[in-house]
Amino acid sequence: MTDLPQLELDLMAAIGGADDLAALDAVRVSALGKTGVVSGLLKGMGAMSPDERREQGPVINGLRDRATAAIAARKTELEDAALEAKLAAETIDLSLPARPRRKGSVHPTLQVMDELIAIFAEMGFAVAEGPDIEDDFHNFTALNFPPKHPAREMHDTFFLKPDPETGERKVLRTHTSPVQVRTMMSQTPPIRIVAPGRTFRKDSDATHTPMFHQIEGLVIDKGIHMGHLKTTLTTLVARFFEVDDVQARFRPHHFPFTEPSAEMDIRCDRSGGKLTLNTGEDWLEVLGCGMVHPNVLRNCGLDPDEWQGFAFGMGVDRLAMLKYGVPDLRPMFETDVRWLAHYGFTAFQAPNPASGLS
Ligand code: PHE
Repeated sequence: MTDLPQLELDLMAAIGGADDLAALDAVRVSALGKTGVVSGLLKGMGAMSPDERREQGPVINGLRDRATAAIAARKTELEDAALEAKLAAETIDLSLPARPRRKGSVHPTLQVMDELIAIFAEMGFAVAEGPDIEDDFHNFTALNFPPKHPAREMHDTFFLKPDPETGERKVLRTHTSPVQVRTMMSQTPPIRIVAPGRTFRKDSDATHTPMFHQIEGLVIDKGIHMGHLKTTLTTLVARFFEVDDVQARFRPHHFPFTEPSAEMDIRCDRSGGKLTLNTGEDWLEVLGCGMVHPNVLRNCGLDPDEWQGFAFGMGVDRLAMLKYGVPDLRPMFETDVRWLAHYGFTAFQAPNPASGLS
């Protein structure tokens, strides 16, 4: 007759002594595997008399249950210890200097976005974001585009396949203006946000790529007028190009979502194939802007008699080209490491108002 208490003591000692998962599994197989001791005892019950079985059954089953539980507990313990050891071995020393030859660089577009955000942050703007894939409502309808507006047509907009259930066609957003709508519908004024992001249009030549970047701005408050818009944007452009004063003009324009609408130009000189700002007789278009159209306010649940606002949108890649002398737009998105090494910025000098913007 097996000495069950002794067997249990031995088994528990072996489980406790198993110091890795393989050793623990060997113990499990030797006790509970097909030919294990405990399995043998369980099988032996078949040959017992009913009285013997009534007495031994609970003892043997109890042993099996306690052994199973002890093995599971030890397994968790070993797994936890293995994870601890792995985490300890994988710590990295963040104070080590980066390896110079392997460092990446910040793309001029992202650098310029950071510069613009730093300037706007100083003026009290928060950053907002929206999805690249938009619906017709946010990209067009809420922004007061008439149903037959040409910008909705196939040649400008990338449409996705219709939804098999609703027939709805999502679009790749053609501008960052849908973030105006999302912000007005989810926040209560006063609102002051900028929304940087990717935008998409079916257009490709030396000055257009199907994917490009914009930064949108929106201010909603009481008593906002065109003077606020002009001061904000001239301050922005002066700060961005690091000049004391900008010679800018606001030229009447049309956007469905603003009224009045304007494009802002900066005085420039293009003679000799070189662009110089603030002198000369030429004008360089930098952004679109205007007072938020009352229909847009209403579409977003705001009462135009109570709230007014202005909005603007500008092409970030174009601003990067202007500021950093990038001659051609297309290589900006070809991910050529030589181009990136030449035009990229170090990640250790993120623009901020304290240390300077460029
Ligand atoms: N969304 C316009 C564009 O893509 C720019 C704009 C934004 C104009 C906000 C006015 C106000 O051209």
